[in-house]
Amino acid sequence: MEERFSRLRGFQDILGEDEEIFSEIEEVFRKTAKLYGFKEIRLPILEKTELFVRSIGEATDIVSKEMFTFQDKGGRNVTMRPEGTASVVRAFLENNLHQNPSYHKLFYIGPMFRAERPQAGRLRQFHQAGVEWFGLDDPIVDFETISFVMYVLEKLGIKDHSELAINSVGCKECVPNYKEKLKVYVKANIQNFCDTCKERFDRNVLRLFDCKVTSCQEALRSAPKITDNLCQTCKKHFDNLSDLLSKFNIPFTIDTHLVRGLDYYTRNVFEIRVKELGAQNAICGGGRYNNLVEEFGGPYTPAFGFAMGIERTTLAIKKFTNKSKKKRVLSVCVISEDEIEYGIKISNLLREKGITTYFLGGYGKISKQMKIANSLGSDEVVIIGEDEIRNNTITLKKMNTGEQIKLNIEDIDKLSKLV
Ligand code: HAM
Repeated sequence: MEERFSRLRGFQDILGEDEEIFSEIEEVFRKTAKLYGFKEIRLPILEKTELFVRSIGEATDIVSKEMFTFQDKGGRNVTMRPEGTASVVRAFLENNLHQNPSYHKLFYIGPMFRAERPQAGRLRQFHQAGVEWFGLDDPIVDFETISFVMYVLEKLGIKDHSELAINSVGCKECVPNYKEKLKVYVKANIQNFCDTCKERFDRNVLRLFDCKVTSCQEALRSAPKITDNLCQTCKKHFDNLSDLLSKFNIPFTIDTHLVRGLDYYTRNVFEIRVKELGAQNAICGGGRYNNLVEEFGGPYTPAFGFAMGIERTTLAIKKFTNKSKKKRVLSVCVISEDEIEYGIKISNLLREKGITTYFLGGYGKISKQMKIANSLGSDEVVIIGEDEIRNNTITLKKMNTGEQIKLNIEDIDKLSKLV
């Protein structure tokens, strides 16, 4: 026996119901993004490793242990993108978008790769739909982007199960002071932190907030809070965002431990969580990153963005929405081979009317075709025999009641209403 191949751990085939939900998320996201004035950008999957090291940060989990990195045939160090923001910023500069008036709104949808320990909701290849908005350092941008996410979640039927958490991670003005205060606190309580935290302490003390170990989280509970240590501008940004969210009835909580797992953020950050998903419950995450374009050699260009995890959003949709929103499906069956041509014509007419149609001529006897029609979940079956051809009609059988209707071919338009 030949060996059968299996998927790599953390890599998934997406098919059946999951694929249908997946496509719906992509469609809703794409349509809504365009309504908000975002333009699609399609990015390469492979980039120079340095791009991610410099943007996401060396001390982060992603860069220090989760990247799929290798040398290509030319000896270049390359990485399969673990996220989209770094690539969008590179593309923004490489395609000279910064030279036009500074108002650019881009979105992307596609696979990302992180060599994480796989578990429910945590994969090595996963998909993100994200947006990046360049050119304005105003909390209105932060608010509009968050309300865009909320609108997408509403369209997908999971808004009421999603919880928005916001925080500010400060800026170059206020973060250094805050880090010093935090270091003093952690040093005094160092015995309560795990070995990884002790190691991270010197490299970037803010990364301690990423630690999932309960004792570390406990130990951080009484730590100085970033929101009490913001400079005036950051505080104003944060307060303005909070005010706008309240005014527009978007409920949120302030989570002062939310620092995000990537180093490029400044000022307002957010996450959207679906509690019922368990440990991996963040379905969206993002925030402001005002310095990244400059750090990549461009002019100062403030920016804000986020990405939605499509697999986790799929899990939430399956949990909370009625999956039986199934589209109408029809099968066309023929009594004998003589009706095949007519059957194909009818199938094409139905497809033109926007009805998903299986043509089953060629699958044997009518009884076998009916069986297949049933297994395909057909709502109705069109039966074609000699009679139908002679009279230019079709016979429509409703599968749930068994009721049969004869229709003139000119009346096929009525079919879209006859469910
Ligand atoms: P992130 O929080 O690393 O942010 O990822 C965004 C979302 O991708 C997460 O909330 C989660 O739903 C999903 N995700 C991340 N890792 C995995 C995984 N291993 N398996 C399944 N889903 C996952 C970013 O990537 C930023 N680039 C977002 C951003 C855009 N910030 C500004 N602009």
